[in-house]
Amino acid sequence: MSKQTKLNIGLFGFGVVGESLWQVLQRNTSLNAKISKVCIKHADKVRNAPGELFTTDPDVVLNDASINVIVELIDDADAAYDIVTYALKNGKAVVSANKKMIATHLPELLAIQKEYQVPFLYEAACCASIPVIRNLEEYYDNDLLQGVSGIVNGSTNYILTKISEEGIDFPTALKQAQDKGFAESNPALDIEGTDAVNKLTILLIHAYGIVSQPERLTYSGIHHIADYDAQYAREKGYEIKLVAHAHKLDTGDVAAFVFPQFLKKTSSLFHVKNEYNGVIIESGLADKQFFNGKGAGGYPTASAVISDLSALRYNYKYEYKKLYNQHPATLTDDFYLRIYVSAIDGIEIPEVIFEQIEEWSGNESRSYVVGCIHFSRLVESSWWKAKGVSVILLPDAFVTLEQDKILQQEEVLIAD
Ligand code: HSE
Repeated sequence: MSKQTKLNIGLFGFGVVGESLWQVLQRNTSLNAKISKVCIKHADKVRNAPGELFTTDPDVVLNDASINVIVELIDDADAAYDIVTYALKNGKAVVSANKKMIATHLPELLAIQKEYQVPFLYEAACCASIPVIRNLEEYYDNDLLQGVSGIVNGSTNYILTKISEEGIDFPTALKQAQDKGFAESNPALDIEGTDAVNKLTILLIHAYGIVSQPERLTYSGIHHIADYDAQYAREKGYEIKLVAHAHKLDTGDVAAFVFPQFLKKTSSLFHVKNEYNGVIIESGLADKQFFNGKGAGGYPTASAVISDLSALRYNYKYEYKKLYNQHPATLTDDFYLRIYVSAIDGIEIPEVIFEQIEEWSGNESRSYVVGCIHFSRLVESSWWKAKGVSVILLPDAFVTLEQDKILQQEEVLIAD
């Protein structure tokens, strides 16, 4: 595609993001891009755009030879996969925001891109307005990238912020996140951590060349966090956030997971509020770099789609450098984490699984244990996924057993 080629777009989906994209492209003339057809599911819905733009027949868009770019912004991951693969195989560039579709079909999508050599861009699929994918792909060399961690789901961050700062209840905060267009149409994907782990799966390929599957990664959402846990956080001066982690260990292998985490004021992520996302990239030479921006909503997500459209003008494609040009890293479960576990009365926290216990307490309705655990203990068990149990990472979650012993000794000295 040359700089002069007009981007003639066939759009799938006219929800919050699709409509925002339409509005922005109406105003933006510098991009030389036009949406000429929009495929939607429900013909009878009133929409804020001319009626002749819309069709319910995907073939009308996919087989229109004048359309050279497909922008896929629909909800249904299976239908999205069919649309995207058909378009790529027929030589149309594709821009997508569908994290679930990309994460669950990564191997197939990699193979299609390799075979057909057509651009497939999806910056909007991770952290909306934060340019994290292209950054990891282009800027950070594998050897130097020590870790990527962040708040990658706007809805859960919005809910946790509203609960913590305004004292509103979980269902009300969730309803607000839905009304503002941040939540997935099935909000369980947000609150149970599935959306975050889908995004982590995508980040892993660009950060470390790891082709994984969301089911391979261990994760939890915010749905089991109890008032009791929030009280513990307040007493310690922590905020609770849902954080995705990918860290390179001394062995060169990568630890990756999503869990709620207690954060101290000194963490950049502590200050990420509402629907904002925040990503910390740790690099060997540059130490920590922090990206903060809106992670959900129509215009922030459309901004990433527009950036991808703009990248198509200079024939940009992901090269998956870490996968194809370097030695891809491997996932491991062989590391220790400091965690807090709380459980309602009647559910026993299996203390034997802790290598070392730092703190424990409780009342007649709930108790907690803080300690160091080998990560494989969580991977191999499911007791911690039960209703009435919450697992929350400590602020300094990664430790060796020796470090944990030292931390315990310090705690004892402070207590003395
Ligand atoms: N439901 C998603 C979120 C939308 O809240 O982050 C953006 O991916």
